[in-house]
Amino acid sequence: MTDTDSTVRISIDVGLERSALFDLIVDELTVALERRGIRFEGGAKGRIVERDIEVGRVVSWKPGEAITLEWHQAEWEPQEVTQVELRFEPVDGRTRVELEHRGWGRLIAEAPELAGWFTDQLAAPLLRATAPAAFGDWLTDRGARRPSGAQARAVYRDPLFHYPNFRVILSELALNQDDYLIEVGCGGGALMKDALRSGCRAAAVDHSPEMVRLARENNQGAVAERRVEILEASADRLPFAEATFTCAAMTGVLGFLPDPVAALAEIRRVLRPGGRLVALGSDPELKGTPGAPEPMASRLRFYGDEELEALGRSAGFDHVKVIRRDLTDFAREAGVPEEILPLFAGPARFLVAVSSKTA
Ligand SMILES: C[S@@+](CC[C@H](N)C(=O)[O-])C[C@H]1O[C@@H](n2cnc3c(N)ncnc32)[C@H](O)[C@@H]1O
Repeated sequence: MTDTDSTVRISIDVGLERSALFDLIVDELTVALERRGIRFEGGAKGRIVERDIEVGRVVSWKPGEAITLEWHQAEWEPQEVTQVELRFEPVDGRTRVELEHRGWGRLIAEAPELAGWFTDQLAAPLLRATAPAAFGDWLTDRGARRPSGAQARAVYRDPLFHYPNFRVILSELALNQDDYLIEVGCGGGALMKDALRSGCRAAAVDHSPEMVRLARENNQGAVAERRVEILEASADRLPFAEATFTCAAMTGVLGFLPDPVAALAEIRRVLRPGGRLVALGSDPELKGTPGAPEPMASRLRFYGDEELEALGRSAGFDHVKVIRRDLTDFAREAGVPEEILPLFAGPARFLVAVSSKTA
C-alpha cells in the first residue's frame, strides 16, 4: 500500500436504534445528495449517479446494518475502483454511524497533495460546518428558511402554532369560489388546505423542494382535480403571467426575504387589478422570543408599522395598511393548549395591500 492509498472515515454516535437510524440516514442522504446534483437510488441493486455517470454501485445492502458501494472516483480512470462503506453499530445504548472510503487517493500522485486534498475538501468544510456562521445558517434553513428533513416535514404538515396566522389571513381575504389565490412560501401547504375549502382555485410556490412535495401530498385531492398547482420557485421570480390571481397570501416568509420589495412587487405583478395581498409581518417584538429564537433571530429582518407599510408602497401597491390582531382567540380556536396561549397575546402585524393597476 502506498501512502496515497488511504482510508477516510467519519463517524458520529446517535441516540437512535439501529434500524431507525439506517432508514433516517438513507432518507437524509437521498435528499442531501439530490441538493448537490447527485441521485442516490437505494436498495440491493441501488446506485449513485452524477451527471448521468454511475459513480457508485451497491454491492451489499443490509438494512439496519451496512451499505457497501463500489465507487468510481474518476470517469477518466475507469479502472480505478474504491470502496465506500456506511456502517451502523450499537455502542453504549446508541448507534455509531460510520462512513468509510477505502483505497482513496491513488489518483493523487504526491503525498503532500493528498494531505492538501484532505485538508481542503474534508477538514476545512468540517470545521466550517461546526462554526457558528454555517451552523446557524443550517439550523435556520433546516427549520424555517428552507425546511428539510423528517422533523420539518412533521411540523409543516400540520403547523399548529401557525394556524392563528392562517385564520387572520383567511378571514381578511374572505375567499369565495370565484377567487384565484397565490400563496408564496407555502411550506407544507396547510394554509392552502384551509383556503381551498372556500371553493377557490389556487397556486402556491416554495423554494424548498421537500416542502413542495409535502404541500402537494397535503392537498392531493385538489392537485389531482387541478384546482391547485404547487411549484418550486423563489418569491422574487413567480412562474406565472401577470394579472393572473385575485388575491395573495404570505405567512412566515417576509422576514427571511433578502429583498422583500422585489418579492412583494412580484406578487403585485401576478395580481389582477383590485387584487389583494394579506401577509404576516415580521414583528421586531418577537426577536429572541419563542416566535423568533436564535439563531434564526439574527438572520431575520424585522419591520415595525411604518417600515412594513413602506415595503408595500415601494413594491407598487397603492392601497396599503398595516393591521394588528391579537391572536389569542384564533389560537384557542385552532386548538393551541391553554398554557401556550400567552405566547399569542400581543398584537401581530399583517400587511394588507391592494393593487388597483397592473402596470
Ligand atoms: C417559516 S416557513 C412558513 C411556511 C408556511 N407558510 C407556514 O406558515 O406554515 C417559511 C417558508 O417560506 C419558504 N421560503 C422562504 N424564503 C423563500 C423564498 N425566497 N422563495 C420561496 N419560498 C421561500 C421556506 O422554504 C418555508 O417553507
